[in-house]
Amino acid sequence: MERIAETLTILTPEDKEATDLPRVSEDELAVGKKRLYIESYGCQMNFSDSEIVAAVMRNAGFATTSTADEADLIFLNTCAIRDNAEQKVRNRLKQLNTLKKRKPELVVGMLGCMAERLKTKLLEEEKIVDIVAGPDAYRDIPKLVEEAETGQKAVNVFLSREETYADIAPIRLNSNGITAFISIMRGCDNMCSFCVVPYTRGRERSRDAHSIVREAEQLVADGYKEVTLLGQNVDSYKWTSADGSEHVNFALLLERVAQVSPELRVRFSTSHPKDITDDVLHTMAKYENICKYIHLPAQSGNSRILKLMNRTYDRDWYIQKIDRIRAILGEDCGISHDMISGFCSETEEEHRDTLTLMEYARYDYGYMFAYSERPGTPAAKKYADDVPHDVKLRRLNEIIALQQKLSLERNQRTIGQVQKVLIEGTSKRSAEELCGRNDQNKMVVFPKGDLQKGQYVLVRITDCTAATLRGEVVA
Ligand code: SAH
Ligand code: SF4
Ligand code: F3S
Repeated sequence: MERIAETLTILTPEDKEATDLPRVSEDELAVGKKRLYIESYGCQMNFSDSEIVAAVMRNAGFATTSTADEADLIFLNTCAIRDNAEQKVRNRLKQLNTLKKRKPELVVGMLGCMAERLKTKLLEEEKIVDIVAGPDAYRDIPKLVEEAETGQKAVNVFLSREETYADIAPIRLNSNGITAFISIMRGCDNMCSFCVVPYTRGRERSRDAHSIVREAEQLVADGYKEVTLLGQNVDSYKWTSADGSEHVNFALLLERVAQVSPELRVRFSTSHPKDITDDVLHTMAKYENICKYIHLPAQSGNSRILKLMNRTYDRDWYIQKIDRIRAILGEDCGISHDMISGFCSETEEEHRDTLTLMEYARYDYGYMFAYSERPGTPAAKKYADDVPHDVKLRRLNEIIALQQKLSLERNQRTIGQVQKVLIEGTSKRSAEELCGRNDQNKMVVFPKGDLQKGQYVLVRITDCTAATLRGEVVA
């Protein structure tokens, strides 16, 4: 249990699957081609990047496989956000060692944030690794693979100010054929003191708005029903056309994507409390197909800690953002958070401010973590990681217990409501039931009837747990 408690709490079996396990590439039908196996860790940005990597490698003559044993080339797309994310990858490398012993010509590449953070050090520490490629080096991967195939070690950890991979059509991996991610920006300029992302993903840059809309149109043409626009801080999306005549901010981008098709649901993540505007909230209210759900990480409920974290807002500012969401989008809008327990010098009283903020916000859901010091970050340089491990875990467990209670209360409010659900597939627990998400991103389970995935249905909610809603289909 401790391992899970240190990472995050997972409220539904589906979310557990999505966050705890790495994602694995699929079997592509291709005769005589070399095989690539990709395993992806970390956040949605990484999952989305693996789809770019798969596209680049397809052009280089590789087909993907879901079995590491069959692969000529193995990529681990890694995460560096907390120490345990890196440990997971190191353990996986140990397992892959047996494979490499059996098959010495196997090429192993480390991609993503851990690769960028550790650079050539990874080659020294992990003998099995042949390639190290950072998040902005994916166009270069075929060349790195060629080098590695001749027995050399190959590295590209150059971070770019422009790269957005806008022109590369991703190959959808692990897709249910219904929901997809679209990367709208890369990197982060925020420098939250605890966070490694600015060092692993470089400067913030926004992708060409037209290429984003085209990708959404293509997904609709391919039968997809939902897109999630991805960025570390979507509210600071800002794109200007080459001739300077066109300026697109996030509210406008959201509107353009919503206009692609009324049948296409639009979600986005992550919003930053310092940047989310009323404009964005009004755009959400204006379009029925923009889901009424906002992921608004708080990190702490205490203003002194928020200052040390360099989040650039305080408790009052955050509360005022919650109030604006409720005022413009109503009580039913789903809100979730990220929270960190035991950040440097956090006292019991300051921890209790986190709990009272949670009560105030009445969050539907949360991703909760114990602080993990990351080498090289401002917090690691300036502040002592002085909250004892067991205290961090105890506080984390209090945060988790409170979130369970809030999630249950928020779910109970929905009993009796009729909600629109996009069917994603068969329920994990029973072949006789289907599941899908409502507007607020909650999983709803209901009897199958003659319905199919990809359809919208109206479901009357009859029962719930903290994790799932149950209901019956109406009309
Ligand atoms: N861009 C997003 C967060 C991306 S990282 C935002 O600004 O909200 C996802 C989450 O991991 C963060 O919100 C934070 O809660 C958590 N996290 C980041 N660094 C961490 C660290 N050093 N220790 C523990 N949790 C951390
Ligand atoms: Fe990290 Fe802060 Fe950027 Fe989020 S906004 S990725 S927490 S630096
Ligand atoms: Fe994502 Fe982990 Fe990198 S959370 S941005 S893969 S450090």
